[in-house]
Amino acid sequence: MTASDNTTASDNTTASGSTASERTAASATSPGDALDWAGRPVLVTGGAGFIGSHLVEQLVAAGAEVTVLDIFTSGSRDNLAAVAESITLRETDIRDLDWAEYLTAHPVDVIFHLAANAYVPPSVEQPAMDCELNFTSTFRLLEALRVLEWPGRLVFASSAAVYGNSVRIPIREDDPTVPISPYGVGKLAAERYLAVFADLYGLNLASVRFFSAFGPRQRKQVVFDLLAKLDRDHERLFIHGDGTQVRDFLYVADAARSAMIVAANAPLRGEAYNVGAGHEYTIDHLAKSLCAITGSAPEFDYSGTNRPGDPEKLVVDISKLRAIGYRPSVEFDQGLADTVAWYESLTGARWR
Ligand SMILES: NC(=O)c1ccc[n+]([C@@H]2O[C@H](COP(=O)([O-])OP(=O)(O)OC[C@H]3O[C@@H](n4cnc5c(N)ncnc54)[C@H](O)[C@@H]3O)[C@@H](O)[C@H]2O)c1
Repeated sequence: MTASDNTTASDNTTASGSTASERTAASATSPGDALDWAGRPVLVTGGAGFIGSHLVEQLVAAGAEVTVLDIFTSGSRDNLAAVAESITLRETDIRDLDWAEYLTAHPVDVIFHLAANAYVPPSVEQPAMDCELNFTSTFRLLEALRVLEWPGRLVFASSAAVYGNSVRIPIREDDPTVPISPYGVGKLAAERYLAVFADLYGLNLASVRFFSAFGPRQRKQVVFDLLAKLDRDHERLFIHGDGTQVRDFLYVADAARSAMIVAANAPLRGEAYNVGAGHEYTIDHLAKSLCAITGSAPEFDYSGTNRPGDPEKLVVDISKLRAIGYRPSVEFDQGLADTVAWYESLTGARWR
């Protein structure tokens, strides 16, 4: 194929004239939150990870006093370099933490609970690990909140994996939840405990069901994989399936922002929110956009058949999240350009 546009993004400044960090600050301070973040103590578990680090940046930009608990298994200190001076970063394993003791010593108003094994394959290979980290650790946190009669707000990072092979398009929160992986089961079990604990004990809790996010600092999944392939081979680009698969591409800054909106504006009665971009593109469109941004023009090689378990269409209904004030703020092409710029700074990639 021939790339139609040779725009390259060699630094973080893009055609719109704003930098990724300026957009982070702008979206974090956008009006509409029923909670003033300024000076508010907030805890982010897994805050050194992909979504967590973007969330921490937005919380800092909004004036919150942020503490991060992480053990850097998949996350890293580097992810938090831009805000290192403004946060408290504790190397703490959430599996070992005495939560009641910790929260009594370090009170916070809001907890974002993101620390987890974040992907399906490790949960298939090591279901006990996934259960302990994703489910049991979350349950222990909730149990401490119950014992403390905690008055704060907690948002739990759940996943689209709770739906399993959902047949309905677009997917709504009240669709059947039939997870097909240990990861999905763990997330759903934790969600259900949140709902019951909110109801029985009056805790302020909600879950966000992230659909696949992309953006800077993510080193796997389709956008990163396509960039890595483009980087390795400038002549041919291999694509699973025939390129017509439809996906919702959620930019990471919007994923992070959605969690803040839920914490600030949602009723927090144990409910769950789909988090997606709310618009869809084909894999072909994604690949062509990346080629245009990088100025590459490879031939596309299609495998012709989808990988097992890869649905043809994955479309998400985000009207419940929109109803509490969420608006995706980053255009698809802008998010891709920011991701390409990050990839270039990480790898020194040249595309031609
Ligand atoms: N990225 C997505 O598209 C996506 C989709 C659905 C759900 N989610 C969920 O969102 C959350 C964040 O995902 P992510 O993509 O940022 O993943 P990530 O792996 O980048 O972040 C997880 C963070 O948790 C930390 N961590 C792991 N075990 C820990 C432990 N025992 N104690 C303390 N910290 C620990 C890791 O070091 C990492 O920084 C996860 O709960 C994940 O399941 C992500």
